[in-house]
Amino acid sequence: MPEFASKTEGQPAQRCGQPDPHFDLGPSHDQKDPRDPTFCPVVRAGRPAQLRHRSRMMQLGYAEEDFRDKPVIGILNTWSELNTCHAHFRERVQDVKRGVLQAGGFAVEMPSLSVDESFTKPTSMLYRNLLAMEAEENIRSHPLDGVVLMGGCDKTTPGLVMGALSAGVPMIYLPAGPMLRGNYAGKILGSGSDAWKYWDERRAGNITDAEWLGIQGGIARSAGTCMTMGTASTMTAIADAMGLTLPGASSIPAVDADHQRMSAECGRRIVEMVWEDLTPNRIVTEAACRNAAIVAMATGCSTNAVVHLIAMARRAGVKLTLDDLDALGRVTPLIANVRPSGKDYLMEDFYYAGGLRALMKQLDERLDLSALTVTGKTMGENLEGAQVYNDDVIRPLSNPVYQEGSLAVVRGNLCPDGAVIKPAACDPKYHVHQGPALVFDSYPEMKKAIDNEDLDVTPDHVLVLRNAGPLGGPGFPEWGMLPIPKALIKKGHRDMLRISDARMSGTSYGACVLHVAPESYVGGPLALLKTGDTVRLDLPNRRLDMLISEDELARRRCEWKAPEPRFERGYGYMFSRHVTQADQGCDFDFLQTDFGRTAGEPDIF
Ligand code: FES
Repeated sequence: MPEFASKTEGQPAQRCGQPDPHFDLGPSHDQKDPRDPTFCPVVRAGRPAQLRHRSRMMQLGYAEEDFRDKPVIGILNTWSELNTCHAHFRERVQDVKRGVLQAGGFAVEMPSLSVDESFTKPTSMLYRNLLAMEAEENIRSHPLDGVVLMGGCDKTTPGLVMGALSAGVPMIYLPAGPMLRGNYAGKILGSGSDAWKYWDERRAGNITDAEWLGIQGGIARSAGTCMTMGTASTMTAIADAMGLTLPGASSIPAVDADHQRMSAECGRRIVEMVWEDLTPNRIVTEAACRNAAIVAMATGCSTNAVVHLIAMARRAGVKLTLDDLDALGRVTPLIANVRPSGKDYLMEDFYYAGGLRALMKQLDERLDLSALTVTGKTMGENLEGAQVYNDDVIRPLSNPVYQEGSLAVVRGNLCPDGAVIKPAACDPKYHVHQGPALVFDSYPEMKKAIDNEDLDVTPDHVLVLRNAGPLGGPGFPEWGMLPIPKALIKKGHRDMLRISDARMSGTSYGACVLHVAPESYVGGPLALLKTGDTVRLDLPNRRLDMLISEDELARRRCEWKAPEPRFERGYGYMFSRHVTQADQGCDFDFLQTDFGRTAGEPDIF
């Protein structure tokens, strides 16, 4: 008896309910109606349950009855002890399995690269595409009929979704959920935002060691993702608005019992999705991407949303551009009063106020409610009954936090391919600003200078950091909220115009122009700027320019020398050769949908 039996060998596959005495062969892949009870999705793509597979499952203590004729559901779990945002995933995966079993599926947990924001060096963004590749190949290379994607910490949402979109089997996204509000000495603390704020106060000498330790212990009080509207909350909201999560799942706090119930429901639903053959290409359409972008703008999203949204959309074959996002940013009011763009509240408050469903209900005239979702229903059907319970947290369109301005895209001779700013999160006096540049080539060089209390700097200066983009960082680090020089902090200044080709954390704020493209490391015009040159930002006209003559720029361009490559081997080498620029989403060129045909399911012989 062969160890592996070919499904075909010229013979039609058997149907479920007619098991081969040795091989549990199911129906052929081209069976037309997946709702037919004899359809066996285990062999959806040419994967008969074979002796070796089944004997190895029995090695784990399962009986044939546990898996025979059942959809195999992979649970891609990004748990790690160094991903504190996902600390509850070891328990939650049991809830998912419970749901899968209840619905008649067979669940297998698969550990996935746990790209975390706090500990991954030099930056988690370097590894988003590695997670996407791993997820895609893990799904393709294993006998999975559907997947539950467990993520939440910033890059895990786009990474898992990008990979699963390319793999193409039915999938549902399970967001980790935000952690509880921070608390110290009677004050509510917000992830990231308050860390930056109190760090400036500490640098100004206004915070004692004991207070600093108190803040350290109180700012992250439970499992879950950052509880401001940072990148994690933005990206899970985007997945929700794309129709990839159970409705409103992104708002449920990580440690709320609702989160456990939602996890079990993910398990039940993915089994149904397999039987319905509800693949992600039917969900992530142009309408779904547009819905997600509108919702992102209305939540006061992280600037990182731009990069990830473009990359995710393109994996689904949707050509979303920076200009599309700028256009939506101009007309979408910011109605989530959640920090850092909002003023007073955090994600826990947002959930109690009705969560993302309630916010989307406010926007329903702007959304395409016919978009299909993982529930098998339309977005409009999912939003039925959604209500706002606190209209100071989720504002009506008639009383927004800001009429527009979650994100804006600027262009000019400093950033011909675009740069991004968050107008709502900076002092409006910087929306039009002109001043002398103070330019640094590396973070260490800048850090040394800004800690010098005698630094010759005024509030009108424009602080510039370069070599911090996708290739220069390397990996596009979140350095873009450049620290205010100590000399200005001591005088009470807390904001100034800052420009870089870096990203910034979604929890950051201030007059920071980010994602300058093309980046300086590859010879973008930012590489030609010198200290003392005049820089002008004109946000209403979406311009960012250096006021230098074309002749002078041409002369500097001739003098510019390309820096040494950052990597000579390994993953970093591959990253350097294939990552695209910020305006293109920073996916690898060869992973983009239009690069070539996706590999099919591997044959088994
Ligand atoms: Fe994980 Fe912020 S560190 S979401």
